[in-house]
Amino acid sequence: MKIVTLEKFVAQQQKEHGATGELSGLILDIATAAKIISHQINKAGLVDILGKIGNQNASGEEVQKLDIIADLSMQEHLKNSGHCCAIASEENTNFVEISDSNNAKYVVLFDPLDGSSNIDVNVSIGTIFAIYQRDTELGQECQERDFLQQGYKQVAAGYALYGTSTMLVYATKNGTVNGFTLDNSICEFCLSHPNMQIPKGRTYSVNYAKYGEFDVKVQQYIDDCVAQDMEFRYIGSMVADVHRTLLKGGVFMYPATRPYPNGKLRLLYECNPLAFIIKKAGGAATDGYTDILQLKAGKLHERTPIFIGSAVHINRLKQFLQSQPATQSI
Ligand code: AHG
Ligand code: MN
Ligand code: MN
Repeated sequence: MKIVTLEKFVAQQQKEHGATGELSGLILDIATAAKIISHQINKAGLVDILGKIGNQNASGEEVQKLDIIADLSMQEHLKNSGHCCAIASEENTNFVEISDSNNAKYVVLFDPLDGSSNIDVNVSIGTIFAIYQRDTELGQECQERDFLQQGYKQVAAGYALYGTSTMLVYATKNGTVNGFTLDNSICEFCLSHPNMQIPKGRTYSVNYAKYGEFDVKVQQYIDDCVAQDMEFRYIGSMVADVHRTLLKGGVFMYPATRPYPNGKLRLLYECNPLAFIIKKAGGAATDGYTDILQLKAGKLHERTPIFIGSAVHINRLKQFLQSQPATQSI
């Protein structure tokens, strides 16, 4: 089998699009960080890096030791990249300006480790990233508005998934969705899933324990999935649930609940990049009413309800949410 490494693939893409190499450089820097995170995760049980650190992050959630290790690894590689002028992480309250890279045109947002509750139990987790062209002028200080852009403006997005194997899946604005598997023997991501397209599928994915906290229309949609004899799967790491959805089709949802009327998942670090990938693969993502990629964030850590998957399932869901009168609200 002909091996196409990520490096080679990115170089080919760069040539085809007549690009400058800055975006290619950023993607390769993120891939390097992902390799390091993958390596740390693989030996986590042996070197006392499992468990909580005892602090809460910007969203008020318990921080795990590996969250910090992943965050530092992403920060280090992006700060040294020279291709982005500022970064924003789910783990930090504010964005971080990279002072010697004022002339770089990109900003990067990331969830360093998605799926915190699965870290200590050896279940798939991942790193999610989104890349935008800055809104402010080159050479100027970056502003929050550079990060609060609508998701359809992403120039590239993707994720690393630390699962039974480690994969990197990414897409650029003008390209297709491609998946690379880490070959540990040569420490290279190699093209394994070219031009990924989401099939229709028949899987629905939701935290059933919260069923009683969902809007009655969402409950009716879930009941309909059962009536349609769809398969149920829920990993509890959005990145892994969405990866399965990309490969197998169906729908993943994290709706609004009574305690979280805006949903739990973060628009900028989780929903936008994964919606970008799924849409590029022929699927769709909505908050129930508006396309995720059209939403305008008002703040860095904004949350949104999300329903994401094959277009046919998302359309069916929208019919439930939009046409049936509510008999009860959350
Ligand atoms: P994070 O670990 O980055 O805080 O994200 C966890 C998220 C997401 O990965 C997952 O889909 C969701 O939390 C699971 O939440 P529940 O435990 O409420 O189902
Ligand atoms: Mn997350
Ligand atoms: Mn996280």
